[in-house]
Amino acid sequence: MAPSALVTGCAGFIGSHLCETLLLKGWRVTGIDSFLDNYHSGLKRENLQPLLRQPRFEFVGEDLLKVPLKESIEKNEYVFHLAGQPGVRSSWGGQFNTYVVNNILVTQRILEAIKGQDIKKFVFASTSSVYGNTDALPTGEGQLPAPFSPYGVTKLAAESLCGLYYENYGVPVVSLRYFTVYGPRQRPDMAIGSFIRSILDGKIIIVYGDGMQKRDFTYVEDIVRANILAAECPAEGEVFNVGSGRPVEIMRVIRILEELSGREARVEFMPDQRGDVRDTWADIGKISGMLGFVPSTGLRIGLKRQIEYMKKSIN
Ligand SMILES: NC(=O)c1ccc[n+]([C@@H]2O[C@H](COP(=O)([O-])OP(=O)(O)OC[C@H]3O[C@@H](n4cnc5c(N)ncnc54)[C@H](O)[C@@H]3O)[C@@H](O)[C@H]2O)c1
Repeated sequence: MAPSALVTGCAGFIGSHLCETLLLKGWRVTGIDSFLDNYHSGLKRENLQPLLRQPRFEFVGEDLLKVPLKESIEKNEYVFHLAGQPGVRSSWGGQFNTYVVNNILVTQRILEAIKGQDIKKFVFASTSSVYGNTDALPTGEGQLPAPFSPYGVTKLAAESLCGLYYENYGVPVVSLRYFTVYGPRQRPDMAIGSFIRSILDGKIIIVYGDGMQKRDFTYVEDIVRANILAAECPAEGEVFNVGSGRPVEIMRVIRILEELSGREARVEFMPDQRGDVRDTWADIGKISGMLGFVPSTGLRIGLKRQIEYMKKSIN
């Protein structure tokens, strides 16, 4: 019989790609998403459309804080928990409460529902933001987490809860620390998508800081593959980085976008934003060694695909 999975955050950027790949592989998928207003819900509804046409996909459009979970968990072998409140810069001030709710309380509620149930794996979407502003580059999983933003604090708390439920209840957890994910359907608040939109519209690109800060950009299909490897591997109670292992300066990304789009970028620099770290760089030795993960999409190809996707959606 085909494997089955519950995917939380199925209408989001990464969750919708994961569902698509699982369905292509023949899995049965139950997706949950509440169309949180962190960005325009119309984009999430669009992400969901192709999934809704699949007979092996079932959608539950409810808030994970309230929806009855036991049934969705009982009928699935795997749980991929990607729902969350993402974004570093908006996690300060009054918004923090929604980060606590959607990242910490929701994760705790799912883990409570899972404990004692017979599932094969619980894969949690963690983040490189748990490392904070570290000089230990490339950063390995053994580095002591020290988040630099309220967002990072809530994701680290959620990741720690996963560890607790593994230690105390034997929930078969794996946490994946994603490094900046990009590709088609990327969230509109993220840098690459907003750079492409500005270049295509002839508008000014705002770069925070000097543009020489580096990010380990990871193509969304590589993130999806890492999720499936994490689900199917025997490892439990482990944390893995998922990145390309090849950090690139922000200005270099803009230069590549200029080359690929054939248009000149107009750049304006603004002061660093609170919570933004200087550089990120994933040490991917552990996930390569234990799960056989090798990033397969280079930056230039990935950016080309994102530009093509965004041109089509603008049209
Ligand atoms: N995009 C990245 O670069 C990145 C990097 C590191 C970690 N992550 C993590 O990966 C996950 C997915 O990120 P994304 O970029 O696809 O974000 P996204 O906002 O596009 O997707 C998250 C989805 O979760 C849903 N959701 C949130 N709270 C919910 C709730 N209480 N009930 C039901 N649905 C809820 C939202 O509606 C949204 O569709 C998040 O947990 C994020 O923290 C993302």
